[in-house]
Amino acid sequence: MGSLCLVLVLLHISWSLSSVPSPSPHLCLPDQKAALLQFKNSNFPSKSCWFKLDSDSWNNSIDCCSWQGVKCNKETGNVIGLDLSHSCVDADLSVINTLVHLHSLQWLDLSSNELFGSLLENTSSSLFRFHALRRLDLAYNEVDGAMSPELFSQLVSLTHLNLSSNWIDGLIPNQISLLSSLVSLDLSHNYYSLSFESQGFDMLARNLTRLRTLVLDSVDMSDVSLTSFLNLSSSLEHLSLGDCRLHGEFPTLLFRLPNLKHIDLSGNENLTGYLPNTSWSSGLELLNLSYCGFRGSIPASFGSLTRLVSVDLSGNWFEGQIPDVFGNLGKLTSLRFSSCNLSGPLPITLFNLAQITALDLSDNQLEGPLPNHVSKLQLLKELVLSSNAISGGVPSWLFTLPSLLVLDLGYNKLAGPMDRIQMPISVEHVDLSSNQFDGPIPDSVFDLVNLTSLHLSSNNLSGVVNSDMLSKLPSLEVLDLSNNSLLSLSTSGDDANHSFPRLTTVSFSSCNVRQFPSFFRTSSLVVLDLSNNMISGGISKWEAEGWEALSVLNLSYNSLTTLEQLPGGSLTILDLRSNMLEGPILSTCQNLQFPEWLTVFLIAKNKLTGNE
Ligand SMILES: *[C@@H]1O[C@H](CO)[C@@H](O)[C@H](O)[C@H]1NC(C)=O
Ligand SMILES: *[C@@H]1O[C@H](CO)[C@@H](O)[C@H](O)[C@H]1NC(C)=O
Ligand SMILES: *[C@@H]1O[C@H](CO)[C@@H](O)[C@H](O)[C@H]1NC(C)=O
Ligand SMILES: *[C@@H]1O[C@H](CO)[C@@H](O)[C@H](O)[C@H]1NC(C)=O
Ligand SMILES: *[C@@H]1O[C@H](CO)[C@@H](O)[C@H](O)[C@H]1NC(C)=O
Ligand SMILES: *[C@@H]1O[C@H](CO)[C@@H](O)[C@H](O)[C@H]1NC(C)=O
Ligand SMILES: *[C@@H]1O[C@H](CO)[C@@H](O)[C@H](O)[C@H]1NC(C)=O
Ligand SMILES: *[C@@H]1O[C@H](CO)[C@@H](O)[C@H](O)[C@H]1NC(C)=O
Ligand SMILES: *[C@@H]1O[C@H](CO)[C@@H](O)[C@H](O)[C@H]1NC(C)=O
Ligand SMILES: *[C@@H]1O[C@H](CO)[C@@H](O)[C@H](O)[C@H]1NC(C)=O
Ligand SMILES: *[C@@H]1O[C@H](CO)[C@@H](O)[C@H](O)[C@H]1NC(C)=O
Ligand SMILES: *[C@@H]1O[C@H](CO)[C@@H](O)[C@H](O)[C@H]1NC(C)=O
Repeated sequence: MGSLCLVLVLLHISWSLSSVPSPSPHLCLPDQKAALLQFKNSNFPSKSCWFKLDSDSWNNSIDCCSWQGVKCNKETGNVIGLDLSHSCVDADLSVINTLVHLHSLQWLDLSSNELFGSLLENTSSSLFRFHALRRLDLAYNEVDGAMSPELFSQLVSLTHLNLSSNWIDGLIPNQISLLSSLVSLDLSHNYYSLSFESQGFDMLARNLTRLRTLVLDSVDMSDVSLTSFLNLSSSLEHLSLGDCRLHGEFPTLLFRLPNLKHIDLSGNENLTGYLPNTSWSSGLELLNLSYCGFRGSIPASFGSLTRLVSVDLSGNWFEGQIPDVFGNLGKLTSLRFSSCNLSGPLPITLFNLAQITALDLSDNQLEGPLPNHVSKLQLLKELVLSSNAISGGVPSWLFTLPSLLVLDLGYNKLAGPMDRIQMPISVEHVDLSSNQFDGPIPDSVFDLVNLTSLHLSSNNLSGVVNSDMLSKLPSLEVLDLSNNSLLSLSTSGDDANHSFPRLTTVSFSSCNVRQFPSFFRTSSLVVLDLSNNMISGGISKWEAEGWEALSVLNLSYNSLTTLEQLPGGSLTILDLRSNMLEGPILSTCQNLQFPEWLTVFLIAKNKLTGNE
């Protein structure tokens, strides 16, 4: 009995404890409610735009502490938090003046609105009076002009400041180093007009010892000395300095900050540096050094960064091979080493990554064959290995990757015949141009039902392409088969039944085409290049009918003798140079109905004569 009582007492205590947070109806302080209502009445005029906030919940007869986006201190009733992000507030920053009674405000989120005006005393003076403010978020607004030093000398309790994606300009006041409690600072994307002075950033790096997140993309830091970065807090987790105009040698030590997870230095073309040989920050998840001037080799220690998710080293001046050390990087989803001056074989361990969705090693000097067998890569969407010296055949596993959308192997030394494609896959973009494939285009290419672009130009393909084959690719938009001197295009096939609803660009230049392919008449083709073929004879009135969308037609370097009518009514560019069109120039041209929009008409090197 006694123990039952105890249980009941305990139950009662825990029940009443958990019920304490339910706000009493009169928690909200009247002057603070009045301030909020005044703000609402002046700023939520209509519901025509999308409100994250249900402004109807801001109802005078309800306790303001239960209004959406409003947070109060449960003991004092003071409003301490206000989330008005995505709320269509379209006003000058001085609207904040109406909130002056919220003297305990710690947390103000006005991001993604249409606030304008500047962070200067005359428009934002009341903002500077929220001395208790810890988090201020004004990202994605239209704030412009310079920042007042008061912003920093008054709001010294700030732990989070986000001014990203506005139009703020000028020097960042050195007083920013007074914000010694800052944990997160984001000044990114103020359209290149915000800048740091050398001393200002140096003081920031030394004094902001709690900083975990520093996001300064597109802030002009050309004046900043790279050694200042050495003083950044060892608690730093996230450093983003894309397009900051940094120059000089980046201190390798930064890659060893113990807590670093995310480092982005992309687009600092004059920033040089080396990757560390040892002792990387072991928690690194994102490494983006694209389009900088990093040098040296990619160290084997890279393979110890087992938490890596996304790596982009494109556009640097490395040397040597890609070390084959990806076996333990099972979390990697994206790897880009494009234009890195890398040579040697393709690292085999890369082809065993289970989570990878994007792999781009294009524009290096990688050589040797693709691996024969691959079992992973189930999530791979984008495989870009173009502009290397990869040789051998196209293995069949490429066409069994279930998620593949982009396959770009152009500009290599691959040779055919191509392996049979075993089953139709989702791939949409295939580029095998400028390789050494010969023989006919395998039938199975025309089983890739979701293809939108197919590039096979500059190989040694032979055989005949006809309308039946192309009609199996209903999504095809771009077809480039040019520069295959043995490949021809035939009108034989069930031409009348085919239309090519998506096809906009066909290039069959420098092939072995002998006949004008009128089966495209019913398509939405915009560009047709049949230059440098062996088309002889003429184009009849019937063949020239249709072609409603055709804008560019290149028939130069053929053997045409007569044109009864020009195809299409919307031609803007027509190239008929180097054919065998004959007769007096005026009568030839008079018979042709020239389209209204034709702006370029080239007809030199024919057998036309002047009218006597
Ligand atoms: C405010 O709330 C009261 C009581 O819940 C309700 O009757 C009234 O219609 C509400 N006013 C508005 C403007 O939504
Ligand atoms: C605020 O002050 C700045 C210069 O201190 C001035 O350029 C701007 O016009 C002033 N704005 C208003 C609204 O008075
Ligand atoms: C660094 O921060 C402290 C407050 O923690 C402040 O007193 C000092 O003035 C700051 N130093 C600089 C150089 O801003
Ligand atoms: C700043 O705000 C923007 C927009 O809400 C957000 O995308 C960004 O992640 C924020 N920055 C930080 C460091 O949280
Ligand atoms: C800043 O870095 C330099 C060089 O690493 C070091 O000598 C100095 O003690 C550091 N200062 C502070 C305040 O961390
Ligand atoms: C890199 O340096 C060159 C030459 O000094 C300069 O013209 C260019 O603007 C610099 N680029 C950046 C992003 O700072
Ligand atoms: C890494 O090691 C190589 C060869 O041992 C050396 O040349 C290079 O300077 C080292 N790089 C760094 C950043 O220590
Ligand atoms: C690296 O930065 C560039 C430029 O900002 C960007 O286009 C690219 O998507 C980034 N890569 C990764 C993996 O974040
Ligand atoms: C490119 O790599 C080669 C060897 O791998 C090296 O000799 C050369 O210096 C590198 N080029 C540049 C511009 O770094
Ligand atoms: C082609 O695309 C459609 C729609 O995106 C999709 O449902 C279908 O599965 C794809 N076909 C193949 C073979 O992947
Ligand atoms: C192209 O293929 C034909 C046979 O189909 C062959 O005779 C010719 O040598 C090949 N040309 C090149 C450049 O490989
Ligand atoms: C037509 O094709 C020829 C040969 O391929 C090329 O030289 C010419 O520039 C093309 N004409 C136009 C207008 O693009």
